[in-house]
Amino acid sequence: MCGIVGMIGQLGTKDMVLKGLETLEYRGYDSAGIALHTGEEVVVYREKGRIADLKQHVPTQADATLGIGHTRWATHGRPSKRNSHPHQDSTGRLTIVHNGVIENEKQIRHEYLSDITFVSDTDTEVIVHLLSKLLAKSGNMSAALIELQTILHGSYALAIIDREQPEVLYAVKNKSPLLIGKGEGANYLGSDALAMIEQTKHFYELNDGEFALLTKQSVQIFSKTGSLVDRETYEAQIDANDLAKGPFKHYMMKEMHEQPAVIRRITKAYLTDENETRIEDAILTALRQAKRLFILAAGTSYHAGLVGKQYFETMAQIPTEVHIASEFVYNMPFIPEGSFFIFISQSGETADSRAALVAIRERGFEALTITNVPGSTLSREANYTLLLHAGPEIAVASTKAYTAQLTVLALTAAAIKQYAIDLKLELARVATAMEHICEMSEQFEMLAQNYFAHGQHAFYIGRHVDYFVALEAALKLKEISYIHTEGFAAGELKHGTIALIEEGTPVIGLISQQAIANHTRSNLQEVSARGAHTATVVFESLAQSGDTIIIDDVHTLLAPLVMVVPVQFLAYYAAYIRDCDIDKPRNLAKSVTVE
Ligand code: F6R
Repeated sequence: MCGIVGMIGQLGTKDMVLKGLETLEYRGYDSAGIALHTGEEVVVYREKGRIADLKQHVPTQADATLGIGHTRWATHGRPSKRNSHPHQDSTGRLTIVHNGVIENEKQIRHEYLSDITFVSDTDTEVIVHLLSKLLAKSGNMSAALIELQTILHGSYALAIIDREQPEVLYAVKNKSPLLIGKGEGANYLGSDALAMIEQTKHFYELNDGEFALLTKQSVQIFSKTGSLVDRETYEAQIDANDLAKGPFKHYMMKEMHEQPAVIRRITKAYLTDENETRIEDAILTALRQAKRLFILAAGTSYHAGLVGKQYFETMAQIPTEVHIASEFVYNMPFIPEGSFFIFISQSGETADSRAALVAIRERGFEALTITNVPGSTLSREANYTLLLHAGPEIAVASTKAYTAQLTVLALTAAAIKQYAIDLKLELARVATAMEHICEMSEQFEMLAQNYFAHGQHAFYIGRHVDYFVALEAALKLKEISYIHTEGFAAGELKHGTIALIEEGTPVIGLISQQAIANHTRSNLQEVSARGAHTATVVFESLAQSGDTIIIDDVHTLLAPLVMVVPVQFLAYYAAYIRDCDIDKPRNLAKSVTVE
């Protein structure tokens, strides 16, 4: 959570930093701030709220050749102006922005900073005062940064300005993402390449513990102990156009519409013209040797993992467990020898998943990360990576990344024992079915008006894989429309939760599997008899008169890929009708880099 940006070398820094922060708003958006070095002094502007609010308080004529900025998702202290970054030491010499969490901040306050009067509730302020003391002691910033890292415990990506060095921008990284962008006559830093993609496509990765010194002309990277590191840049495969909304009002709508193209792109990336897998032998060998698979993930990615279990057990006959990463790490189940781990993470930065990855690597197990972001932390720290090829997902609510995850999981599971399924053909059908669903947009808007314009509770129910889609449907609806929604195994409602059904409670049944169709319909009857306002999303071959949303059939194993699209649209329109901030729902952030 939180996004940081920095630039050194040319005028235009203020605009670059503010624009970069807007790009990073998906990482948090409860307050923001920038600091500009005018050559003599460092001027700080901070505001509660969005970058748009901050912009109103930064004078148009303000500019500099050195600046840093921050967009916040509060961890320590409420969202407020006083807690927003940048933070400064007592003398105003040092100014920093920070993404991460300092775990031993209380101990540092007690041991090193008992004489300091703090002006915020943040852990970040601890860093800047501590660094100030270390700098005063050694008189040398590199020495101070080396010592700082021996004291700090936790995650931190830092950008630091020293008022006495207007030609230098410092960066430090541990566990939180940070990239350095190499420009012409200017250099940059940011939590994500997207923040600098208009300026450069060439980036240096920083490893945990490393720090960097950026000037107008140069980037020097140092190890934790201060030795110079020789590092090449890499070229990011991102197009600045990926950031445009195109004809759509919201990124979420754009990303839902991109799904058919994403499915086709993944099929091309993972299957040859002859329908052979392109997945590396090393990955397939590791999977073939696995006696048990553990899939770990959070949120939407966890829901994708539930479908993934179905794929690995059906297509590859490998027993598979799916765990919520944040639970797994502190309450590990018995892990037999020969187990292999799969981490699913759109961002590749989720702290809960990373903590689990570190724990299982320490125990000697191998892991594969399935992620949308090449070079992300989970990708770098796992043994193997499979990319989603979904393009940047900017809306906080995940849509195309979920369907991309299911596609990559299906392609991987099928490749292990060459399961008899023509995935090229079946995924092409999925893409076409998705296109048809996108054309039903108006119908979804009417339904959302009918079911979700008022009221505070709703249910999605399903059996078999439809249950997993019901979980995802509920998450989508609640996170952007704030309607309290439960995804339920249809047969389980009557064991207690049916007590919540009142006159008009929306209950939507998902039906894509013949074997359970009648059972789910019976469960809908049961709630309807108690006043629920029911609807169905159903495969054409299973449709009956009175069904609400009828979609094209696809291969039953791939059903979740299409069943989820109507419920994404319903969530979108529910949020739209209720005037919610669709791309940036309250309290959330896209990249959850705190545990
Ligand atoms: C919901 C959503 C979240 C993420 C979760 C994990 O729409 O996007 O539930 O799925 O925070 O994030 P990743 O996949 O980046 O690990």
